[in-house]
Amino acid sequence: MTNPTVAALVERSNRLGRDPKNTNYAGGNTSAKGTEVDPVTGEDVELVWVKGSGGDLGTLTESGLAVLRLDRMRALTKVYPGIEREDEMVAAFDYCLHGKGGAAPSIDTAMHGLVDAAHVDHLHPDSGIAIATAADGEALTKEIFGDQVVWVPWRRPGFQLGLDIAAIKEANPQAVGCILGGHGITAWGETSEESEQNSLWIIDTAAAYIAEHTKPEPFGPALEGYGALPEAERRAKAAAIAPTIRGLASTDKPMVGHFTDSAEVLDFLASAEHPRLAALGTSCPDHFLRTKVKPMLLDLPASASVEDTIARLKELHPAYREEYQAYYDRNAAPESPAIRGADPLIVLVPGVGMFSFGKDKQTARVAGEFYVNAINVMRGAEGLSTYAPIDEAEKFRIEYWALEEAKLQRMPKPKPLATRIALVTGAASGIGKAIATKLAAEGACVVIADLSLEKAQEAAAEIGGSDVAVGVQVDVSDEAAVQAMVDATVLAFGGLDLVVNNAGLSLSKTLLETTVADWDLQHDVMAKGSFLVSRAAAKVLIEQELGGDIVYISSKNSVFAGPNNIAYSAVKADQAHQVRLLAAELGEHGIKVNGVNPDGVVAGSGIFAGGWGAQRAAVYGVEESELGKFYAQRTLLKQEVLPEHCAQAVFVLCSPELSRTTGLHIPVDSGVAAAFLR
Ligand SMILES: NC(=O)c1ccc[n+]([C@@H]2O[C@H](COP(=O)([O-])OP(=O)(O)OC[C@H]3O[C@@H](n4cnc5c(N)ncnc54)[C@H](O)[C@@H]3O)[C@@H](O)[C@H]2O)c1
Ligand SMILES: [Zn+2]
Repeated sequence: MTNPTVAALVERSNRLGRDPKNTNYAGGNTSAKGTEVDPVTGEDVELVWVKGSGGDLGTLTESGLAVLRLDRMRALTKVYPGIEREDEMVAAFDYCLHGKGGAAPSIDTAMHGLVDAAHVDHLHPDSGIAIATAADGEALTKEIFGDQVVWVPWRRPGFQLGLDIAAIKEANPQAVGCILGGHGITAWGETSEESEQNSLWIIDTAAAYIAEHTKPEPFGPALEGYGALPEAERRAKAAAIAPTIRGLASTDKPMVGHFTDSAEVLDFLASAEHPRLAALGTSCPDHFLRTKVKPMLLDLPASASVEDTIARLKELHPAYREEYQAYYDRNAAPESPAIRGADPLIVLVPGVGMFSFGKDKQTARVAGEFYVNAINVMRGAEGLSTYAPIDEAEKFRIEYWALEEAKLQRMPKPKPLATRIALVTGAASGIGKAIATKLAAEGACVVIADLSLEKAQEAAAEIGGSDVAVGVQVDVSDEAAVQAMVDATVLAFGGLDLVVNNAGLSLSKTLLETTVADWDLQHDVMAKGSFLVSRAAAKVLIEQELGGDIVYISSKNSVFAGPNNIAYSAVKADQAHQVRLLAAELGEHGIKVNGVNPDGVVAGSGIFAGGWGAQRAAVYGVEESELGKFYAQRTLLKQEVLPEHCAQAVFVLCSPELSRTTGLHIPVDSGVAAAFLR
């Protein structure tokens, strides 16, 4: 049964973590001290449960807690070798664990274990960090909180900071918490309720003080020409420049992007002080680990054309990289980890919004959230005083901290399609849905495009949350709709790498029965549709300069001649030749174009369920329910072909394993000699 102290700690953590005013995503940690019977001695043992490394307070469960023995934690103070070697204490925490110890102890464990209070909360609220980063933060802390909250000058998180806070609590018995300069807050209480109330009191009191005392325009007066563009114009411009920005941000390694055009971002960029503040960078360690020390800022007004914007971004990017390299060189010690890449993680475009980047969509989205946190912090600090983040050398010490590096080295190897953004047409059903599912399982972000928005969104939701898959509506035969689909992809994930032309339909008719409408419909969806999709997508791929893949789901029927199939098979042959034509044309951009030729995929196929199956069954003289088996029997392998088999072929074509293959068709038909390629 869960220890009631632990249950109360998890509930308190969830309440605090769920409200973004209290802390940033995955920021901060909480703890509780209590007793349990030691199974070895049968006696009570004093323990501290503290949120472990990683994870988010809002969704914390018991398994996210590290469990340490308090007697052993306290004993660490006797062997502490001093600030120069404080990092060694993290390894020593492993010797304090109780039982299996739960989650890995974080760097903040000392602060929780050493402070003499039963319950401790360490949080990163925007309001608290605004005070913590104000140039006169110490005086403000006194003025706002009297002697109930104590100022602690900036110090990197670690054992010494834990000792400092413990000493402050002891010397100030009236205090309920402290403001940690440049960083955040810590509060405590003798009960879980008291700790939570003290945390909320500090956060809300700081926010109320800022609201009451802030100057009217903390970011300065409005900057002529830098106001937000109207929404439709803003989104169109964002989509037009996103591929270039993602390409630049992926110079060292490929990145997934996230776009934010919230009022906070647009207001910040529309104000006179934004260039000075953006250059100062973020302050809270959690913030700049995800945003890099500073963003790349476009210095053109909102009205700048797409061409001018792109040209200027291409000038600013090498300058940003040089500046980052110089920051690394200025601060690196011989034992520092190697530079991790010099590209920006945050790119700000006045009038348009913010592009943030990461190794996956969640990381990119959270980087954007953290920069919004930083904007809120700067607004609060500038409203009362002057924003004064921690200095560059300290930022570097955190960014290239050996412990941080070790954490990165422990990360699991990325999946083969990690960072790749895929767009699959006709993916709400059958083969397309199987392809989207497989690409997502291999690490890609996927956009599911289909005629019905509802079905596209349903299929996306089955695959994963919006960090993995999103559904969009498209009729691929409509030029404007195709452009809107590609724009939506670029705004959802920052760019595009992998396009699957899968949307299709089939009408089985003899030549004499085939109407012009039948002919046009199939050619509009499959020939014209895949031409439109390839054209709109290729523009993005070319602008990104990251190569890419285009895959056509053609058909055995593109080479095999059977009866009653004039329109469908002719258009499949058209698609098959588009593969070869585009492979020849796009190779110079590193774009591979390949095809898959399925046959007889009955299970899960809307084409077969919607009448085609019945017609083909009639042509072959078998029961419709037996069609899958019938197709299997006429193959060389005598095996039924499923949507998943087609999906595996698409994956292989796009995987690093086939990096030198373009212009190829892979049959996925269990072997049909009459459709052998030659
Ligand atoms: N099933 C097979 O045996 C087989 C064999 C060879 C080739 N193919 C090809 O595989 C692809 C997928 O077929 P399936 O069997 O999974 O069929 P399906 O009907 O299950 O899926 C096709 C999807 O395409 C969508 N679609 C149709 N017209 C569209 C349009 N204008 N815009 C956007 N989306 C549209 C449909 O809504 C549907 O969700 C097709 O191109 C088909 O020709 C299938
Ligand atoms: Zn912190």
